[in-house]
Order: sequence, then C-alpha cells, then structure tokens
Amino acid sequence: MSTALIVLAAGQGSRMNSDLPKVLHQVAGVPLLVHAMKSGAALAPERQVVVVGHGGAQVAEAARRWDDEIQIAEQTEQLGTAHAVAQARPALEGFTGDAIVLYGDTPFISPDTIERMVEARSAHDVVILGFEAADPGRYGRLVMNGDKLERIVEFKDATEAERAVTLCNSGVVCAKAEVLFDLIDRVGNDNASGEYYLTDIVGLAWDTGRSATAVTCAESETMGVNTRAQLAEAEAEFQSKMRAEMLASGITMTAPETVFFAHDTIVGRDTIIEPNVVFGPEVTVESGATIRAFSHLEGCHVSRGAIIGPYARLRPGAEISEHAHIGNFVEVKNALIGEGAKANHLTYIGDATIGKGTNIGAGTITCNYDGFFKHHTEIGENAFIGSSTMLVAPVRVGHGAMTGSGSVVTTDVEDGALALGRAKQVNKPKMAFKLMDMLRAKKAAAKKETN
Ligand code: UD1
Ligand code: MG
Repeated sequence: MSTALIVLAAGQGSRMNSDLPKVLHQVAGVPLLVHAMKSGAALAPERQVVVVGHGGAQVAEAARRWDDEIQIAEQTEQLGTAHAVAQARPALEGFTGDAIVLYGDTPFISPDTIERMVEARSAHDVVILGFEAADPGRYGRLVMNGDKLERIVEFKDATEAERAVTLCNSGVVCAKAEVLFDLIDRVGNDNASGEYYLTDIVGLAWDTGRSATAVTCAESETMGVNTRAQLAEAEAEFQSKMRAEMLASGITMTAPETVFFAHDTIVGRDTIIEPNVVFGPEVTVESGATIRAFSHLEGCHVSRGAIIGPYARLRPGAEISEHAHIGNFVEVKNALIGEGAKANHLTYIGDATIGKGTNIGAGTITCNYDGFFKHHTEIGENAFIGSSTMLVAPVRVGHGAMTGSGSVVTTDVEDGALALGRAKQVNKPKMAFKLMDMLRAKKAAAKKETN
C-alpha cells in the first residue's frame, strides 16, 4: 500500500517567544520539521505535504531545502487541526493509498511506530497513535472499548470522568486518504474552542459505518515542543538516545554526556571520542579514528585511523584521509588532507589539497580569500611546509618541496624545490646594548619630569 505524509506546521508557536516559526527551531542540527519528515520518510511515502501558515514562506523553504519534492499547502487561517489537514487535499489529488498525519513540532515519533499504525490499518479504517501519559494534562483523551477506539475527547470538552482517562492522543493519524477527507468534510466546530478538531473523525468514522483503533507508543516519542524549555528537553532526549546508540555500536566515549551529535552523525566501530566534542550535521567518521577533546566537526569525513584534535575544527568539505593528524587549533575547510599528512598546530587550511605524507608546520595559513573570490592551494606529496608559511592562493607547492619558516609563498614551487620568501636576516653587533641604554635613559628622564 502506498503512503502519503501530511505534516501540520501552520501553528504560530507563540510560547516559543521567537521571530522564527516554531517548527524551524532546531534539535540535533536540523529543524523540528525535518525530524517529523524523517520519521515519515522511512515509509518511502509517495507524496509528502507540509501544511504551512505562520511564517509559511520560511517553513516552505526549509521543507524544500530538505527535500525538493515536498509539496506545500497553505492554511491562511488556523481554524483547527481538521481544517489544516483539509488544506492538503489538492496536493493529494488522485492519491489512493494511506495518509499519515504528523505534527511538525513533534520530532520523535519512530518509523517503527508509524509502520505499526500502517499495519493496524488493515483491520480498521482510522488508526490513532495514543500513549499512556504520566501527566495527561490538556491532551485529548482516547475513549476505548476493547481494541475499538470509540472517540477522542478534547480536554476542554471532556467530563470529569473522561479527564480521568490517561490514554492520550499524540496527534498522529493514519487513514485511507479518501476516508480521511470524507470524514474531515463532516467535522464541525461546535466545541469549546470553536475549532475544527481532527480528533472528531474517530466518532464520525463509527457514525458512517467505519471503524477506528489506537496503536500506542512510549510517551517519549510523542514529546511536542511548545517552549524553549521543551526545545532544550527535546535536545537532551535526542542526545541521550544517540549516545546510547553510539556506545552500543562500539564507540568509546569517556564522558558521553559531554558529546553532542547531529541527527545524521555516523561513527565507525572502535573510534574513540574524547570529552566535549560537538558534531554538526553531515559528519562521517570511519572506524578506529580518534576525535580528541573539544573538537568541533561539521560537513566532513574522517577516515580510518585519523587523529583529530584536541581543539580542532573541521568545517564543511574537510576530507581527512587515513592516519592523517589534525592537531590543536587547526581549522580545515573544503580541503583534502592526504593519507598520513599532518597539520598539528595553529593552522588554517581552506580550499586546498594536501598530498600524502606532507607535514604542515605550526601557524601555516592558506590565504584563500581575496575579499571577492576563493582560490585553491595545492601541496604535493611528502612536502614540508615550514612554520608560519603564508600560502597565497592560487598557488602550488610541488611533491617533496619545502618552504622556509615565515615564508610568504606567492608563486608556484616546483617539485623538490626549497622556497624562501622572507626578508634576509641582518645581525648588528652590540646594537641591542646601545638601544637598551638609550631607552633606559629616556625613561629615567621622563620619570623625573613627572615627579
Ligand atoms: C492536539 C489534539 C489533541 C492532542 C494534542 C497532542 C486536536 C483537536 N487536538 O491538540 O487531541 O492530544 O494535539 O499534542 O487535534 N495546527 C495547524 N493548523 C491549525 C491548528 C493546528 O497546522 O489550524 C498544527 C499546529 O501547528 C501543531 C498541530 O497542528 O503542530 C497541533 O495543534 P495544536 O494547536 O498544538 O493542538 P493541541 O491543542 O495541542
Ligand atoms: Mg499542542
């Protein structure tokens, strides 16, 4: 059976107290909305629709950046969750499979849970995802009769007895698209909020000779984000789960609680991650690498046996080959560091290719930017770049070449050559003594004057 996703993301999220639409606030390096899309993506949906409203253009842009096949439906007025889903109808024209409704502010519904809902659909027309709430608060309550879900009552409309129910509505719905839209057409807004409740489709299903049931999941999956405090909690929840998965998959972390992963971090077995390492999005680390303390990595690839840090920064496009070393206060951006090459101290390597076995001395900088354009630096294999070399790109240093410390290299250096691009040193005998005597006398005179 083919599936379609409808992600509701039109709400304002006023409790975030933010100019940014709520669903664009990030957990693990990507917007909340992307987490919801990713959960649903595991079903390989045939269509995906995001319903936008507040900050619609921004939300639509973020959704399309994530997946350019996502369709956008606009809800100009937020009249309730049923009304929001109704806006997705044109985008699902001609679609005959199951539709799954997710909320853009609920990032942790697991793909497995959604799959269980799709399975339950074979026996019932409408499937709702419920959870046992530790504190049911203002959630909608699921009124069950055996495995039949009779109806959902919103907190505001519930009687005391219904409020005592602890099985709550997560908001996730699965139903055949045409059934979903048929039921939504029947939803009214005669309730305590004057809204079109999506939850009313359950009672309406029975009224129209259809059936409904609930599938349940852990409460942690249904965690929604409405405030900055909840955003921080969601981050903590994500991180603790990811750390546990990393440990289980054979990664050593001496202080896992200090390591932060992105939603898509991949780390190979037997890699060691020291304390206080932060991974931004799109990082892959192969097996047997060491990421030393206080390093920050994003958009990069670290190969087997490489050593990164402490205090290293790998930015997008950093490609670190096997057994290379990137040491303290070294920044690498859009650069290939060849096998076994080393840049161990205080260096910036940007827009560059560094050959196998090359050593980059402390304080070396690839001067890649002229204020308008970025230029490339190429260094061959087994070269030796002296400390504090300025490589003014575009420039090439050949295989086995050397540069003298403090050189400013502006022209290509051929294979095997030594480049010296600095002023020649001159020593003036006794001059230091004279200079110091002169300055000492000057200081004494100045002191007398002020007394
Ligand atoms: C909803 C459910 C409730 C459930 C709870 C779980 C209804 C009527 N109630 O209540 O049973 O326990 O979620 O968190 O469905 N949205 C739109 N357009 C709208 C209204 C909402 O896009 O017109 C989006 C919001 O941005 C949000 C989601 O739908 O992502 C849920 O809306 P919200 O107002 O938070 O619903 P609740 O009152 O929390
Ligand atoms: Mg809510």
